[in-house]
Amino acid sequence: MGLDNTNILIIICNNLPYKYKTMELLNGNEVSKKIKIEIKEKVDFIKASGKKTPHLAAILVGGDGASMTYVAAKEKDCHEVGFDSTVLRFDASITEEELINEVIKINENPAIDGLIVQLPLPKHINEKKITETISYKKDVDGFHPMNVGLMFKGLRTFLPATPYGIVKLLEHYQIETTGKHCVIIGRSDIVGKPMSALMLQKNCTVTVVHSKTVDLPSFTREADIVIAALGIPGFLKGDMIKAGAVVVDVGITRIEDSSTKTGYKLKGDVDFDSVAPKSSWITPVPGGVGPMTRVGLLLNTLEAIELYK
Ligand code: GUN
Repeated sequence: MGLDNTNILIIICNNLPYKYKTMELLNGNEVSKKIKIEIKEKVDFIKASGKKTPHLAAILVGGDGASMTYVAAKEKDCHEVGFDSTVLRFDASITEEELINEVIKINENPAIDGLIVQLPLPKHINEKKITETISYKKDVDGFHPMNVGLMFKGLRTFLPATPYGIVKLLEHYQIETTGKHCVIIGRSDIVGKPMSALMLQKNCTVTVVHSKTVDLPSFTREADIVIAALGIPGFLKGDMIKAGAVVVDVGITRIEDSSTKTGYKLKGDVDFDSVAPKSSWITPVPGGVGPMTRVGLLLNTLEAIELYK
């Protein structure tokens, strides 16, 4: 990580001057805005050259509040960058077979380039079956086993949106990754596992820790980069990181809060107040990883056109 002059604190330690980089935000709101402008320029060019407008479809099953918010945000993003978008809404009572048939219809529809089925699905529907029904050529979530395999091999394909967005954010701020120790907390299929593959490709030494890890803080304290993706609000505390670490917070748990318009507040997996003063770079919640995830999905939809149209 290069130290620039604006964020260096020189402290005297054992009678020796010690350069200490003060904390800066990894601002996902700002970076995602810039990337969306670049995407819009590309879409304008595609349209001007008479080619097909990228078209993202989303399937939403049931009335889960968080899922409805995410799908509405994705729709808004599509309009912002000039994509076409379709949202198909189904009652929670839809059967697995009916949902599979809806996915097949979209697979066969040449007007649609990318499809996401918003998770979680109702308990009676097997998410794995649905994920594997989506054509890998339209799987802009990057969840299909074919795309997972291509990603792990470092071959060109759709990358799961959150890890993809995090890599874009680190690249934007020119965070050094080569030779750095990256500790990922959480081993989910959506974040932890694909994140480990992408950070390996960025030449990190990668450790994945999880709920069964013995003495988890002994790992996070060794990390140059910590990525917290376990879904426990405020889990990572200041005494669990080393001074100068880069900290990425993937958590977005909704905590009831009657003082807000929505009735809830988003809380990350990182205890910002104790971690931020010790870190060199940190993502806020909200405004860090969330908007970058949305950009990851838009980039994958553009990629669908480039790879398969
Ligand atoms: N639910 C939570 N995150 C995701 C995501 O990245 N994609 C889909 N389809 N559903 C989700």
